[in-house]
Amino acid sequence: MSITELVAAAAWAPSSHNTQPWRWAVASDESRVELYADRARALPVNDPRGRELVISCGAALFALRVAAAHAGMGTIVQPYPEGDTDPDHLATVHLTDAPGDEADLYDAVATRRTHHGPFERATVDARTLATLTAAAAAEGAILHVMDALQRNSVAGLVGEADHVLWCDRGWRRELARWFRIRHGGDGLPVSVASLVPTRFVVAHLDLGRRLGATDARLVSEAPAVVVLATQEDEPEDWLCAGQALQRVLLTATREGLSAAFENQPCEASPALRARLGAVVHGHVPQMVARLGPTAPARPTPRRPVAVSEGRGAPARR
Ligand SMILES: Cc1cc2nc3c(=O)[nH]c(=O)nc-3n(C[C@H](O)[C@H](O)[C@H](O)COP(=O)(O)O)c2cc1C
Repeated sequence: MSITELVAAAAWAPSSHNTQPWRWAVASDESRVELYADRARALPVNDPRGRELVISCGAALFALRVAAAHAGMGTIVQPYPEGDTDPDHLATVHLTDAPGDEADLYDAVATRRTHHGPFERATVDARTLATLTAAAAAEGAILHVMDALQRNSVAGLVGEADHVLWCDRGWRRELARWFRIRHGGDGLPVSVASLVPTRFVVAHLDLGRRLGATDARLVSEAPAVVVLATQEDEPEDWLCAGQALQRVLLTATREGLSAAFENQPCEASPALRARLGAVVHGHVPQMVARLGPTAPARPTPRRPVAVSEGRGAPARR
C-alpha cells in the first residue's frame, strides 16, 4: 500500500460539517508522514478554538494507523513534535515494519457512516459497551456510558444548546455555507434542487426550539448515549480524543452500530459544556453521541487525495 493509499483511507474519517480539515506531507524516503491542520477549512463560529478541527484530524490520524497496520506497517505517532513551532503541525507518523493491533478495524474504515435520524428501538448490550469503553481507553480517553439519570441531563443540555446555537445568525450562516452539492467533494451533501432552499432556511430561520425538542427526545430514546471525554482540554488532548473517537467508531461499526452526534452542549457555550462536564464526573467532554444499529447508508463525499512532498511542497494528486 502506497502512502497515497494510506492517506486516502484516512480521508474516510468523520469531520465537523465534513470539512476534512487535514493536510498530509510525506518525507522523500517515505519513512514518515506529517499531519497538518488545514485552517482554511476551519469553522470559526462553531469551533472558535479549533477543538473540533483537531479532533477531526485525530480521527483521520487513527484511520491512517489502521490502514498502515493492514498493510503490514507499524506507526509511531509523535504528537505536536518538539522543537517545531508550527501550531498546525499536529503529528509526525513514523512508519516501521512492526504493525500494531489496529489492522482488524480496517474493513470498518470505509463503511463507517454518521447516522442523522432516530434509531430503531433496540438495546446495546453491556459487553459491546465495555468493548467501546476499552477502545477509548486504549487511546488515552474516557468513554462515559450514560445511565438513565445522566441521559436525562444530557437530553436537557442538548435541547438548551440547540436554542443557543440557532439563535446565533453567524452560526446559522456558517452552517448554511457547508451544505454543498454531492460532487463538490466536501460539506454536508444535498441535491442540486434543494441546495438553495436548504441554505436559505438554515441561514434565515431559527429552528432551535423545534430541533431542541427533537434532539432531546432522540437522546432520551436512543439505544445508548455516550460522552467521550479527556482529563484536560489542550490541543494534545483534542488530538488524543480524535484518535479515540475513531477507534470507538470503527469498533462500533464492527459491532453493527452507528453513531449520531449530539455535540451541541460542547459547542454552544463554555457554561453548557461545564454542566455536561459535571455529568461526566468532572472530566472534559469532547463529543456526545447516540449509538444504535442502522441499515447501510450512502457515503458522504470526500475531496481528492493530496499528499505534499516534505514541508510546504505543492500537493501532488
Ligand atoms: C468533531 C466532529 C464533530 C461533529 N459534529 C457533528 C454534529 O454536531 N452533528 C452531526 O450530525 N454530525 C457531526 N459530525 C459528523 C460529521 O457531520 C460527519 O462526519 C461528516 O458529515 C462526514 O460524514 P460521515 O461521518 O458519514 O463520513 C461531527 C464529526 C466530527 C469529527
